[in-house]
Amino acid sequence: APGAQRFIPPDADTIDELRAASGGCQGCELYRDATQTVFGRGDESARVVLVGEQPGDMEDQKGLPFVGPAGRLLRRAVDDAGLDPGQIYLTNAVKHFRFELRGKRRIHQTPDRVHITACRPWLVAEFARLDPEIVVVLGATAAKALLGPAFRVTKQRGELLPWPASAQHPEDFTQVPVDSAGTLADAPPARLLATIHPSAVLRADDQDKAYEGLVADLTVGARALA
Ligand code: URA
Ligand code: SF4
Repeated sequence: APGAQRFIPPDADTIDELRAASGGCQGCELYRDATQTVFGRGDESARVVLVGEQPGDMEDQKGLPFVGPAGRLLRRAVDDAGLDPGQIYLTNAVKHFRFELRGKRRIHQTPDRVHITACRPWLVAEFARLDPEIVVVLGATAAKALLGPAFRVTKQRGELLPWPASAQHPEDFTQVPVDSAGTLADAPPARLLATIHPSAVLRADDQDKAYEGLVADLTVGARALA
């Protein structure tokens, strides 16, 4: 069966055990060309979990999420929003780098629905072992993974949203068996906060304005914790 579920040991109680197991995932074809699985990292008792899209070129080489340019920008924004960088956990909706080779360059390709769906069990497993108060969804890919395909980041960014009881298992996701330790429905009632992806800030015509928008959205989360 496709998907990551069969690679998740049901007795993996900790993030470290999950991370170790994720190294062998072949739940979709992305493992073939990427260097390695890039699992989440950070404070396991984090009050805030940030979910990005997928590792980029640098993350793929280092094996760590958010260590490239987008990650640098994100960490600056986290700081500027008043969130404690030591109290966050960073992960991605898809755990392998998807790219297209152009000459020697590896060009980022947005993951498709099949990759998001295949990889979602890892994200669900992470949530089952974390206990966040706020989950920040960075951009459309993470939003699709957690809120379903109809969610529009541009419309609902910067708003604290309830954990999506009805939207969490839309049709496309019901084929994906969820982790035995708990579905998203069983996860603690974190609130969701959607914002743009840090890479979108780097691509924006007006980077300063886009950056301020990202910080403003993250500040909504920081205030909710205080
Ligand atoms: N972009 C992401 O979404 N995640 C990373 O880890 C790096 C860049
Ligand atoms: Fe497994 Fe996700 Fe990598 Fe696909 S992208 S092989 S589902 S870890």
